Amino acid sequence: MTTATTPLTTHKVGGRIGAVIEGVRLGGDLDAETLTAVRTAILTHKVVFFRDQSHLDAESHEAFGRLLGTPVAHPTVPSVDGRYALGIDNDHGGRANQWHTDVTFVPAYPAFSILRAEVIPPYGGNTLWSNTAAVYASLPEPLRVLADSLRGVHTNDYDYAAARPEARTAALEQHRKVFTSTKFQTEHPVVRVHSETGERTLILGNFLQKLAGFRAADSRAIIDLLQAHVERPENTVRWQWRAGDVAIWDNRATQHYGVDDSDDHERTLRRVTVDGDVPVGVDGRRSVLLSPESVPEPSHGIASGASTDGSLAEAA
Ligand SMILES: [Fe+2]
Repeated sequence: MTTATTPLTTHKVGGRIGAVIEGVRLGGDLDAETLTAVRTAILTHKVVFFRDQSHLDAESHEAFGRLLGTPVAHPTVPSVDGRYALGIDNDHGGRANQWHTDVTFVPAYPAFSILRAEVIPPYGGNTLWSNTAAVYASLPEPLRVLADSLRGVHTNDYDYAAARPEARTAALEQHRKVFTSTKFQTEHPVVRVHSETGERTLILGNFLQKLAGFRAADSRAIIDLLQAHVERPENTVRWQWRAGDVAIWDNRATQHYGVDDSDDHERTLRRVTVDGDVPVGVDGRRSVLLSPESVPEPSHGIASGASTDGSLAEAA
C-alpha cells in the first residue's frame, strides 16, 4: 500500500495541553500514516482540535472512530439513530458543567472521545480540558506518594441537586432518570498507569464519590486538594467552538468541563467514544466493578464496550 505524504501540521494551543491539527480531512478512509500521526498527537497533546470538518455525518464520524478503536455506546443514555453517537445538547438537561472524565463509573471507561460540533451558539459554550498526566507530574512528591496509594469509588448516581441547584427543571429530572437507569459503582485507583504512554494519570472528577477507607470529611478534603490541581489554569486549555470543529481527547489522561454560559442558544455536539481498557494502579491493582454484578448491555440495542475485556472477575 502506498502511503500518502500528508501535509499535516500541529500547533500547540496551551503549554501543557492541546494542539490544533491542520491538513487532515477526518473520515473512515484516513490513510495509515496520517492516522498514526493523529494518534501520536492525541497521546502527546491529550486533546487535539480540527477545524472545518463539516463533511462528517453520523456514519463517517463513527467510521473514523473505528480507526482509533471500537466505538461503544453510553451505558445508560440512548444513542442518536441507533448509532454510536451520543448527543450533547443544551436543551435536554445533559449539560456538562462539572469537571469530569467520561463514564468513569464503569471499569473500562472510554479511551478516546471524539466530539463534533454541529450547532454552536453565538457566544459561550466553550469546553475546557485539563492534562492529568501533567497535573500528577507537577504535584509535590509527598502528595504523589499519597495519591499513588488511594482508591476511589465512582458512581453515575451522584447528587445532581447538590451539583446543579439552579437547574431543577423537568428536562434535568428526566435526564437524570435516564442517566441513572442502571446505578453503577466502580472502584478505581486514583493514579493509573497509562497503558499506551506509561504515564501516571489521575482518575478523579465529578463521578468520584468517595475514597475507600476514609471518613466522608477526610475523603472530601483529599479529593478537593487533588482536584484543585486539575483545575489550575496552567494545566488546562479552553476551546472556542465553531460549527464543523472536531475535538479528540485521550479520556484516560484528561478531565473536561463544558461551560454553561450560552443562555438559551442552541448548542448541539455529537460524541463518539472508543472502548478503553481496565485501569491499573501503580501497585498493579486493577479497577473493580462493585455494583451491579456485571455491566449490562444497554437497553437501546447497541453494545457497550464497558465490560468486554473480562475485567470484572479481577479483584486484586
Ligand atoms: Fe464529557
